Amino acid sequence: MRALVTGSNGFIGSTLVEYLLSKGSEVLCLVRKTSDLRWLQPLAVKTIYGDLRSPESLAQVLKKTDLVFHLAGVTKARDAQAYFAGNVQTTKNLLDACEKFSPAEQKFVFVSSQAAGGPSPDDRPITEADPANPISLYGRSKLQAEDLVLKYSQHRHAAIIRPPSVYGPRDRDILTYFASANRGILPLLGDGRQKISMIHVEDLVRGIFLASQVKEANGRVYYLSGDEEWNWHAIGDLVARTLNKKPIRLFIPFWLLDAVSAVNRLAAAIKKRPALLNSDKVREMKQPNWLCSNARAKAELTFRPQIELEPGFRQTVDWYRRTGWL
Ligand SMILES: NC(=O)c1ccc[n+]([C@@H]2O[C@H](COP(=O)([O-])OP(=O)(O)OC[C@H]3O[C@@H](n4cnc5c(N)ncnc54)[C@H](OP(=O)(O)O)[C@@H]3O)[C@@H](O)[C@H]2O)c1
Repeated sequence: MRALVTGSNGFIGSTLVEYLLSKGSEVLCLVRKTSDLRWLQPLAVKTIYGDLRSPESLAQVLKKTDLVFHLAGVTKARDAQAYFAGNVQTTKNLLDACEKFSPAEQKFVFVSSQAAGGPSPDDRPITEADPANPISLYGRSKLQAEDLVLKYSQHRHAAIIRPPSVYGPRDRDILTYFASANRGILPLLGDGRQKISMIHVEDLVRGIFLASQVKEANGRVYYLSGDEEWNWHAIGDLVARTLNKKPIRLFIPFWLLDAVSAVNRLAAAIKKRPALLNSDKVREMKQPNWLCSNARAKAELTFRPQIELEPGFRQTVDWYRRTGWL
């Protein structure tokens, strides 16, 4: 079995590559000249310098590939056009190339995001049957990319994964939260009662792989999440416990977030870089809940999350400490 992974050098991509190798797969890693290859270097993989902007460059690779895992994408961008270029155009180019060069029996899995479906309706976890209601440019760009994958799935195997917040070794987003708590401050947004779904990266990659193997996954969308529901108060307690610290809780009201995001946006525009905290991100933070249901993935993919948040955080913090990130 030979697999091609886009976004292979990133947090989720590199973990997926390791999992595919453990399954006996030959793995081709699509990377760019500018990509940081630190996670791939120790692995027995073939790195391919290709560009999703020029599909022709993928012809030879795609011809001999059984599985394609498409994870390359942008989560932070300056404007709608940059989200479109990073998430929609890249997906279109890859699908066009697969259409043209891949064997008909090749399986394609696209890693989208919970943001494509939007926040949970009312107080319950969102399901794949709920109408998609993305509230951010990022979510809308992922949903547009999903539409292309669904069209493609009408004649080739293609499945879509919507992960919620992903954590685990190599993740730098949740690291900032741990790092702040480690320095003595635990930020809590709004009233801290927002409930979210999360998934450990090792559970996620197991589910992504299943979507390439199960025939019924063709043309289907799956939320892959852990079984637990956590609000930010409880997550804060767990972070403090895991670090064995007693950080001060700092409640950040939404009006302050709005103000900070406006300043951030301006600074980012001047530096011509994406703002880490922009109005899009703030809108997402303000939603009552971001829960999703993994029931369909359990029923159709036999997906079973194995890592609960408490041991998952312990393992992640151990890794951050060993690596010197904390
Ligand atoms: N992390 C999460 O919590 C989360 C949650 C839901 C969904 N997702 C989705 O999961 C995927 C992987 O996320 P991640 O957290 O692993 O992100 P990451 O560590 O930032 O990795 C992103 C990867 O995409 C590649 N990439 C971006 N634009 C590209 C382009 N134009 N051509 C080729 N490669 C490109 C990057 O390559 P370079 O290193 O060269 O830039 C990198 O390998 C993304 O599609 C993201 O939207 C992530």
